[in-house]
Amino acid sequence: MLQLFSPAKINLFLRIQNKRPDGYHNLSSLLQTIDLGDNITFQLHQDENDILTCSEVSLPTNHTNLILKATELFRQKTNLRIHLKIHLEKHIPTQAGLGGGSSNAATTLWAFNELSGKKIDIKQLMEWGAEIGSDVPFFLSQGTAHCTGRGEHVKNLASLGSISLFIVKPSIGLSTPAVYKRLRLPITFRENPSELEDFLSGKINCFNDLEQPAFNLSAELKDLKQYLCSRGFQQVLLSGSGSAFFCLGNGKIPCTENLAVYPANFVNREINNWYTKKE
Ligand code: C5P
Repeated sequence: MLQLFSPAKINLFLRIQNKRPDGYHNLSSLLQTIDLGDNITFQLHQDENDILTCSEVSLPTNHTNLILKATELFRQKTNLRIHLKIHLEKHIPTQAGLGGGSSNAATTLWAFNELSGKKIDIKQLMEWGAEIGSDVPFFLSQGTAHCTGRGEHVKNLASLGSISLFIVKPSIGLSTPAVYKRLRLPITFRENPSELEDFLSGKINCFNDLEQPAFNLSAELKDLKQYLCSRGFQQVLLSGSGSAFFCLGNGKIPCTENLAVYPANFVNREINNWYTKKE
């Protein structure tokens, strides 16, 4: 049996560059894993099917769940006839831009590889992960990475340290395709954007090109951002396509009904180990 932590992510910056003929968008994003996450238990079992159970009854546990897409893909690529029994203890809010489903899929690819003799290298797992979703390869990085293309080109970066933050999730959720549909391009065009260099030299400039389209879908989110900024945090930003915000720096913990607030820290993994959450 293998029990693994499946972390959420935030996008410290997210620049959308252009829309591609395949309908996806080219982007440039600095992503970071955090220690808000799910716990997943994996067991080999004799049946001819995988079995997935979940602590959250509203989540699908059939083939539409990215965990089962990952097991199916792993078998297809390796020709192994091994099946798994999996339990997902869900903590990452869904429709939040925190990458919960993608993280679960990446964790499953790692787990399947561990349970079947570690024959596949991480680069290969990343390539397979991209077939499941644009953010899946990122979760196979070491936790701090610059992602380009539709998100699947991942460049590992040195850890930024164990920075603490708050995740704030309103009760509404947002669908990623719906937010992308609201994008009006071009947003700004800069030949040589320097946000990554700025970030790595210590100039923290968080931004997210998906924030405005998300605000166009929900005025409530714009109000929430204003409220969070008024609590004194240095950076308040929608994560990915939302609807969760992350708050960095010193500020007063938001306390409003209908808001879920999660204290968290940046987390990274060692090269040969999976992520763990320090209790
Ligand atoms: O790759 P993934 O399945 O996570 O993408 C979900 C949706 O988000 C896509 O169908 C697309 O509408 C949008 N998307 C995009 N450009 C990206 C990533 C996602 O347009 N780089």
